[in-house]
Amino acid sequence: MGNSFGVHGWGQPWGGATARDWAQPDLQIEMARGLERACLDFLLLEDSSFVPDNYGGSPAFYLTRALRAPKNDPLPLAPLITQATTRLGVVPTISTSFYPPYLLARLKATLDLMSKGRIGCNFVTSTAARAAQNFGHEERIEHDLRYEMADEFVEVVSKLWSSWEEGAIVDDPEAGVFVDPEKVHAINFKGRFFASRGPLNTARPPQGRPVLVQAGGSPQGRHFASRHMDCVIAAVSTIEEMKEFRTDMRARLLAQGRAPDSCKVMFVCEPTLGETDAEAKDRYQRLLARRAASPEVTLALMGSLTDIDFAQFDLDAPVEALTTNGQQGTFRRFLAQGRTLREIANNYRYGFEDVVGTPDHVAGVMAEVMAEVGGDGFMFSGALTRRYVGEIVDGLVPALQRRGVVRKAYAFERFRDNLLEF
Ligand SMILES: Cc1cc2nc3c(=O)[nH]c(=O)nc-3n(C[C@H](O)[C@H](O)[C@H](O)COP(=O)(O)O)c2cc1C
Repeated sequence: MGNSFGVHGWGQPWGGATARDWAQPDLQIEMARGLERACLDFLLLEDSSFVPDNYGGSPAFYLTRALRAPKNDPLPLAPLITQATTRLGVVPTISTSFYPPYLLARLKATLDLMSKGRIGCNFVTSTAARAAQNFGHEERIEHDLRYEMADEFVEVVSKLWSSWEEGAIVDDPEAGVFVDPEKVHAINFKGRFFASRGPLNTARPPQGRPVLVQAGGSPQGRHFASRHMDCVIAAVSTIEEMKEFRTDMRARLLAQGRAPDSCKVMFVCEPTLGETDAEAKDRYQRLLARRAASPEVTLALMGSLTDIDFAQFDLDAPVEALTTNGQQGTFRRFLAQGRTLREIANNYRYGFEDVVGTPDHVAGVMAEVMAEVGGDGFMFSGALTRRYVGEIVDGLVPALQRRGVVRKAYAFERFRDNLLEF
């Protein structure tokens, strides 16, 4: 869920009251119930912590359109969602550049204990200078250094999660022992960026550690994923890119001494559905026409990921060489889409969008693409409305189930077991 606890559907067709009620958790809770009805693996909750002001040098473009702000912190949504569901995994995003590792390890352990093993963690390194400034850094943190910090961050939080051995809680009133002190250990971690003594003052998470997820597409991001992650999300739009991503990830996992299947590779997918193929194509054309009418919105969003003010450039002039300290994998793909900014904005696809038609047609394409790419599945994304959620969970997923390519029932209680099963 992009823009997870932010404003959805404002001024958009089928938005209903979602924008008016943006600060309430109902949309996300209803959505989670729908995803669970469809037996999907997890709901990923995106996050960022700044008001962008990259377009035209002011926050006005973003604030007037409710782009990326206001946005509530999505972490309080997690226990509401796990209370309203029984099997769905929930993956809130946290920044390895700003969260103190001990706080994060304790928070996620608490959520995993509360949900009986259904919490994940999407690690992002946070790319925006404004976010860094909100946390007291004068300068943004350099791209590759952010990933070195992220690596050490995951090392220290993993040690904290393991600071209580399995079976540490014995709960034996006759022996007068609730916790076996022999099974709780200090970690005495002192690294380059972080230090923590430990142990955690809450218990071991039921999954040992939450399901670890990340979505960085640069070589440094992929390396980070190959060392630690249970799942990596790739925002690419063609079958060739999917193949390249998966082949590269599997080689990196092998190089780390890990089984290639121990880390799921999923691709961002944004289908357009209709009752007939013609209706779906018409809807998609209208979506593209809306985008073409306002390339500034695409450029402002890309500006907020790259800290580049695209308002300073002529939309129809050839793009000069641009570099970013922000999201590099995303930006490289963006620039490859055309010669001018207007062309790039019109051609840019964040994920796999080339899936347009009836639920049965789209299910067929998705199954064929996965058969060809050999990936582990897709992560649905797109403008969030109740209608879109209904189309996916009550239209598309049943069509995928009829083809036998997704589950019809969860096999396990815990998130990681379900994720690795299918
Ligand atoms: C599906 C998906 C979800 C992401 N969620 C977030 C997020 O919640 N917060 C964030 O700051 N970045 C998010 N990102 C950005 C990535 O963490 C990463 O910075 C980006 O893909 C660029 O990769 P690179 O940093 O390796 O160059 C997301 C990316 C993708 C593809």
